[in-house]
Amino acid sequence: MLFSILLAVAASTLAAAHIVISYPGWRGNNLIQNDTFPYGMQWTYPCGGLGVTTNRSYWPTTGGAVAFQPGWFQGHQTAFLYINLGFGTDGPDGGPFNLSFPMVSPFQLLGPSKGPYPGTVCLPQVPLPANMTFNAGDNATIQVVELAQHGASLFSCADITFAEPGDERITKVDESNCFNTTDLGFADIYTITRKELGAAANMTTSGAARLWHRSSTTWSWLGYLPVVAGSLWFLL
Ligand SMILES: *[C@@H]1O[C@H](CO)[C@@H](O)[C@H](O)[C@H]1NC(C)=O
Ligand SMILES: *[C@@H]1O[C@H](CO)[C@@H](O)[C@H](O)[C@H]1NC(C)=O
Ligand SMILES: *[C@@H]1O[C@H](CO)[C@@H](O)[C@H](O)[C@H]1NC(C)=O
Ligand SMILES: *[C@@H]1O[C@H](CO)[C@@H](O)[C@H](O)[C@H]1NC(C)=O
Ligand SMILES: *[C@@H]1O[C@H](CO)[C@@H](O)[C@H](O)[C@H]1NC(C)=O
Ligand SMILES: *[C@@H]1O[C@H](CO)[C@@H](O)[C@H](O)[C@H]1NC(C)=O
Ligand SMILES: *[C@@H]1O[C@H](CO)[C@@H](O)[C@H](O)[C@H]1NC(C)=O
Repeated sequence: MLFSILLAVAASTLAAAHIVISYPGWRGNNLIQNDTFPYGMQWTYPCGGLGVTTNRSYWPTTGGAVAFQPGWFQGHQTAFLYINLGFGTDGPDGGPFNLSFPMVSPFQLLGPSKGPYPGTVCLPQVPLPANMTFNAGDNATIQVVELAQHGASLFSCADITFAEPGDERITKVDESNCFNTTDLGFADIYTITRKELGAAANMTTSGAARLWHRSSTTWSWLGYLPVVAGSLWFLL
């Protein structure tokens, strides 16, 4: 399997980093760019263009390891990483309808260079989403999201069946499949509140009008309305 992944990477000319999930096993190789996915499969929500699979991995009901290789293509000297869970069969592919349940706080990846790099990241004890419990035999999907510097996201998923911790069907986690390579660093992500919700808006009427009409002066007021402008930008 590794060989086929290497071939796919060698054959690709994509200019952006991509993820390979190495534990638990991923849905399949989605490092593909073709006529169906002209921008590359892995940019497709929620699971990088691959539907739910039946060859699931067993994963502990108490949470467990998630390992992946984030740097298969160039363009990810830094990235934000998210790990989420989805469950249920309401999705168009018979899998989860969404993957909206965060398992860890997002964190930043510090890669060694802008080029492709070989490192591996492993979180040995990813917990279940807050206030959520599952029974042995329940199915779910773990999603790894890699947010690129320009804000677009790469998606890859692993389908799991929960099992009691210690169940021998759970692939053993050790230094051979769960490690951080030394060439990768990590950083915490913070936000700083610049205006409390409900505080008087510091925006003139003419400023508001310009927001909706996308005038040539757009950029002059973007500077003091970064949050508002950022969240409305897609509507313009
Ligand atoms: C499931 O099967 C697909 C297709 O053969 C394969 O690419 C993928 O690696 C498999 N995943 C697991 C977890 O075995
Ligand atoms: C592109 O690759 C995907 C995944 O292998 C495949 O389902 C699809 O049919 C391919 N599209 C073309 C046009 O080859
Ligand atoms: C979990 O998924 C497998 C196929 O991947 C299916 O056979 C099984 O019935 C599902 N279990 C539940 C509880 O839905
Ligand atoms: C996401 O999916 C879960 C499971 O189907 C469901 O309970 C939840 O309401 C969904 N969330 C949204 C925002 O649709
Ligand atoms: C989890 O439950 C606690 C106690 O009911 C609640 O305060 C908290 O907001 C819940 N967390 C989430 C993410 O729902
Ligand atoms: C890898 O680094 C992350 C982030 O610092 C950390 O949470 C995790 O425990 C490390 N993994 C291992 C196997 O030490
Ligand atoms: C509104 O923002 C401008 C530009 O940042 C600042 O100079 C001005 O003092 C602010 N006014 C109020 C009432 O906060």
